[in-house]
Amino acid sequence: LTKKVEMTNWEKGHFINYAKMNENLNIVRQRLNRPLTYAEKILYSHLDDPHGQDIERGKSYLKLRPDRVACQDATAQMAILQFMSAGMPSVATPTTVHCDHLIEAQIGGEKDLERAQQINKEVYDFLSTSCAKYDIGFWKPGSGIIHQIVMENYAFPGGLMIGTDSHTPNAGGLGMCAIGVGGADAVDVMANLPWELKAPKVIGVKLTGEMSGWTAPKDIILKVAGILTVKGGTGAIIEYHGPGVNNLSCTGMGTICNMGAEIGATTSLFPFNDRMYDYLASTNRKAIGDFSRSYTAELHEDEGAEYDELIEINLSELEPHINGPFTPDLATPISKFKEAVQANKWPEELKVGLIGSCTNSSYEDMSRAASIAQDALDHGIKAKSVFTVTPGSEQIRATIERDGQLKTLEDFGGMVLANACGPCIGQWDRQDVERGQPNSIISSYNRNFTGRNDGNPATHSFVTSPDLVVAMTVAGTLNFNPLTDKLKGKDGKEFMLKAPTGEGLPANGFDPGRDTYQAPPQDRSNVSVAVSPTSDRLQVLQPFNAWDGKDAMDLPILIKAQGKTTTDHISMAGPWLKYRGHLDNISNNMLIGAINSANGEANKVKNFTTGETDAVPNTARDYKSKGIRWVVVGDWNYGEGSSREHAALEPRHLGGLAIITRSFARIHETNLKKQGMLPLTFANPEDYDKIKPEDKVDLMCTELAVGKPFTMKVHPANGQEFEVPLAHTFNESQIEWFKNGSALNTMAKNAGH
Ligand code: F3S
Repeated sequence: LTKKVEMTNWEKGHFINYAKMNENLNIVRQRLNRPLTYAEKILYSHLDDPHGQDIERGKSYLKLRPDRVACQDATAQMAILQFMSAGMPSVATPTTVHCDHLIEAQIGGEKDLERAQQINKEVYDFLSTSCAKYDIGFWKPGSGIIHQIVMENYAFPGGLMIGTDSHTPNAGGLGMCAIGVGGADAVDVMANLPWELKAPKVIGVKLTGEMSGWTAPKDIILKVAGILTVKGGTGAIIEYHGPGVNNLSCTGMGTICNMGAEIGATTSLFPFNDRMYDYLASTNRKAIGDFSRSYTAELHEDEGAEYDELIEINLSELEPHINGPFTPDLATPISKFKEAVQANKWPEELKVGLIGSCTNSSYEDMSRAASIAQDALDHGIKAKSVFTVTPGSEQIRATIERDGQLKTLEDFGGMVLANACGPCIGQWDRQDVERGQPNSIISSYNRNFTGRNDGNPATHSFVTSPDLVVAMTVAGTLNFNPLTDKLKGKDGKEFMLKAPTGEGLPANGFDPGRDTYQAPPQDRSNVSVAVSPTSDRLQVLQPFNAWDGKDAMDLPILIKAQGKTTTDHISMAGPWLKYRGHLDNISNNMLIGAINSANGEANKVKNFTTGETDAVPNTARDYKSKGIRWVVVGDWNYGEGSSREHAALEPRHLGGLAIITRSFARIHETNLKKQGMLPLTFANPEDYDKIKPEDKVDLMCTELAVGKPFTMKVHPANGQEFEVPLAHTFNESQIEWFKNGSALNTMAKNAGH
């Protein structure tokens, strides 16, 4: 443990510190005196104060010192704009930025990338210059998707990382505790503040048996999502263990951890094992693998470690699954899928199959997909549906080009898209169906909320393994089960597809492809950061006003949202990604996807001052111009989905004071606090029903205190005033954020700015 091993091949002087981690862990061990889960070991070994920190799973707020930060380009803009206002010369924690979200899929990788470079020039210039200025590693457009690049270059067993993207947990496939956060949390860590996380509960998933045939690692998480649902992982880390773990590839484990975000889990992770060692070795990091082996005793759970909940899955019995449409937890095993399609009248024809994305674009995924495509080609047939391939990184693309899988997928009819998010985040200029036309698509992605991929609310989007995507694409219909059904070859003879095969790692090593990394220069003093004052895409941030110290009376309810209100509903992605660095412009998408309980429609609310029905952002702007603060009432798991702090910045910018819900998704709740908003929950969830959209409310802000209830008085439009008890999760320092107007204001104040 005394050896020094660098965290990554791309940076000098940043070492993996197992010795320090071990020291911290021993302090905590003596205090807790019980067996620990692997997730706990990683978290506790990164405590800022291992002696004094309160540690109770599900209760305490841990102050942590992450090893790294990773940002994607959509979230990095606001994170860096915020970091700039903290006034520091360089980041205090190793950080990287990855250009992957802003490339729209239209006609194929090369051309799409060129177009993106023109369209996003000012954003890329801003990111590239600010990264150079503040000592941040910059991965240019075309380099690949953040989580794949992190896996290939930065993740290591036992490490703690935060990333400004909800699928950051992907790095759990390399035994890292990697957690998706908002840009505001990233700013804290870049600025050397400890990062705060409510001590997660730990859900164990014990894997036994061995997968075979058409079952893929993806099916494990599709199954787990079906069991736990989109709410079931909230506040918990999902920790996989058991004898089945050793049979999974490292990248397959990454897939499972990645999609754990869909059940609301804080993160997911696997213990260090030989498959991780192999992956590290094949990606030029054998030294890390050897170092991890020397610390292996602490890179898995202790014997007898207790989980808050335990799920067991026998991989020998696990069927392939297809989840969806519209939600990732509607899990159907392939043997029941045809029935489900009929019973629910899902459109049978499969319009598009899409493989790749950060979830499923490993060498193994591409090899298995190509084996199925080759099988079809051998029978003289090709993809019946439109078929797209998104390599996760330039390294994957170059390697599968060299080894032939790419050609097979193209011969099969595949359009190879840029090494970027593309259709997964709605960056898809889809032409084959009209908006509003019901249709089905199937992908190897992770998230399938309404409208996410193509902006069409009538698109039925399903998620599954890349293997099943390719098989269904051959058939062109959802009424196909490759395990039991025959296809017709060109010669008219019937045949069955062979189960997929493919190597996990390339026998000849990876081909790095084109050089896509920009290291920060040695001398950074002369770098100037490019932000045009006339830009409609970038805007330097102005601090929010501090709290006025008073209770807030007679606030209108801007919207009472009903049902699922994800961050996509609150701050839609797709075309709006463009404005991620411009708070005022992006605020024009605020809550436009949320369903108004008053009329069952999106983006139609009544302005109480004029009586007119108008769009949500317009109404909020009108209230703001009249000096009226407002609240939103929301349903269960409000803000589930992504980590984007825009979903919190926008209501703050447009004059919102509080969001009052039945429950919150963790990241969104914290983001609201950071921006100086009040995320509050109904102490009795059924009180949600007592509030009418046209009611007014008083919020007793002066009552805000740690662990104390919070009173709301409701003034019904006609009727007797009544009180509703609310709850909150503010701690001392978070209350300061509210008082100062935001976490950033607090930071600047403490730094004496
Ligand atoms: Fe990108 Fe989709 Fe992953 S948006 S980071 S490919 S979930």
